Amino acid sequence: MININAISKRYSHADAPVLNNLSLTVSDGNSVSIRGASGSGKSTLLSLIAGFESPDSGSITIGSQTLPFSSEKNADIFRRRELGVIFQSYNLIECLNVWDNIAFTCRLKGNSDDSYQLHIMALLGITHLKNKPAHQLSGGEQQRVAISRALVHKPTLVLADEPTGNLDEDTSDTVSDALYSLCRSLDTTLVVVTHSEDVARMATQQCWLRHGQLHSEPA
Ligand SMILES: Nc1ncnc2c1ncn2[C@@H]1O[C@H](COP(=O)(O)OP(=O)(O)OP(=O)(O)O)[C@@H](O)[C@H]1O
Ligand SMILES: [Mg+2]
Repeated sequence: MININAISKRYSHADAPVLNNLSLTVSDGNSVSIRGASGSGKSTLLSLIAGFESPDSGSITIGSQTLPFSSEKNADIFRRRELGVIFQSYNLIECLNVWDNIAFTCRLKGNSDDSYQLHIMALLGITHLKNKPAHQLSGGEQQRVAISRALVHKPTLVLADEPTGNLDEDTSDTVSDALYSLCRSLDTTLVVVTHSEDVARMATQQCWLRHGQLHSEPA
């Protein structure tokens, strides 16, 4: 369960807050999609949920964990165990190949699961790229590696920032089906930011971010 209660966030030098008294509740295993104009604060919201940044006011709890984390070490432990983040900019490790990029978090935790990793890679259509270095991948290939990496350690919460933003329509359908169905089968909560109506409609709850708040209807 994610419980966000009346959070606000204003960046220094900005005229107005990006998020303004925003609240959101998502039950375990459910999914929420967030749409909104460029610059409306979608990535900022994900960053606050992941604890990379803190709100100026309001509170965020994820399961029994209340943010902010008590230390950077506890934040790391929580993220490695509970959280999968698909960054808008992928953040792959360029010098590692596809397999090692995906396995990275599991290796840190000492619990790699090769067969589950292969299962995810097959669903996302990237098995053939296993040995390719990340710096030789296309944007859409990097995106699918980033999705695999976020799911392979079976997190309880996945934050996906435009996970199909770089994919053609057919691949986007395949990838969004895989993302939602893998989360459902793990009972993982999914927060997905997207500009795609098709991807957004697959969520159990649909929201639009506007003027710093979430709305259940488009403008
Ligand atoms: N670290 C930062 N410092 C200052 N301003 C920031 C910072 N990060 C984001 N912003 C500003 O906050 C606003 C929201 O940015 P954010 O990245 O959350 O938008 P977004 O909805 O994800 O947009 P997009 O759809 O283009 O990805 C923008 O005006 C942006 O310039
Ligand atoms: Mg963004």
